Amino acid sequence: HLETDVVSTGDLPEAAVVENMMQQTYELHVDLSEGTVASYIPKLAEADPGWFGLTLASATGSRFSSGDSQQEFSIQSIAKAFVYALVCDAVGHDEVRERIGVNNTGLPFNSVMAIELNEGHTMNPMVNAGALTTTSLVSGSTWEEKWEFILQGLSAFAGRDLELDEGVYASEMETNMRNLSIARLLQSYGHITVDPARVIELYTRQCSLRVTTEDLAIMGATLANGGVHPITGTQVVGADVSRDVLSVMASTGMYEASGDWLFEIGMPGKSGVAGGIVTIAPGKGSLATFSPPLDAAGNSVRGVHATRHLSHKLGLNLF
Ligand code: DON
Repeated sequence: HLETDVVSTGDLPEAAVVENMMQQTYELHVDLSEGTVASYIPKLAEADPGWFGLTLASATGSRFSSGDSQQEFSIQSIAKAFVYALVCDAVGHDEVRERIGVNNTGLPFNSVMAIELNEGHTMNPMVNAGALTTTSLVSGSTWEEKWEFILQGLSAFAGRDLELDEGVYASEMETNMRNLSIARLLQSYGHITVDPARVIELYTRQCSLRVTTEDLAIMGATLANGGVHPITGTQVVGADVSRDVLSVMASTGMYEASGDWLFEIGMPGKSGVAGGIVTIAPGKGSLATFSPPLDAAGNSVRGVHATRHLSHKLGLNLF
């Protein structure tokens, strides 16, 4: 059971307190042994279930880490939030709300039934149906240009040039029948109007970018900071776009467990099947965790527990 919460005061505690808290959070959760490493993408099954990294980045660019914060892993579904931000910035609030939606499906991230139950609607950008449609809307007159738009955009969020994990990309492309079926189904409903096979390539590439918790925390801190990268000073997306992305992350970022997440943690978050989670404290900063064993909804077990602990200890719950 949790101790009494720290009440939010508007700022993060001083550096020495945060540093101490990150170390303590690592030690408290490193021995948790629940969860299963994803294996439906064969390459992901090679991950060490013991990996556990944490980074908190403030909205002014200070970073505090513990554990395996330099270990690279594929960003997977966490890319959905950032590609959505780039597309929102390009096409606008009303268009993305109408075409992609903002409501939770209550069903797993790759559910076909969710599409059928909602008369072909994609529902939201954080499940595969909405993410594939979002990716299909990326700017560029060739597929190469569209990839450059995603790669440059996500790299601008991170403040460094991100690279593709070729092994993960090849492994997912070989086993991607379900996503291809979802893209074709969306094409049949008129939501995807370009070649579904090329959309799958682009989407799988964005999922295969390598990041560390240090990258993810600073990507999240850019959203916490109104779209301005805390270190490079680049305005990556508009402040209104950052707000829109955070609201849809809050309602749908943790899939069918989004309500539990918001109830326990009280902040927008986004998970990926390689074991990453990014959580955003608007105006304050962002916490990133990485640990491969996942729960039934596909969210990292150590990540969920550690984020809950830090949310309470640092007074980050928005409510
Ligand atoms: O589409 C997929 O299956 C993966 N590339 C991403 C899924 C994912 O990260 C779900 N997250 N928890």
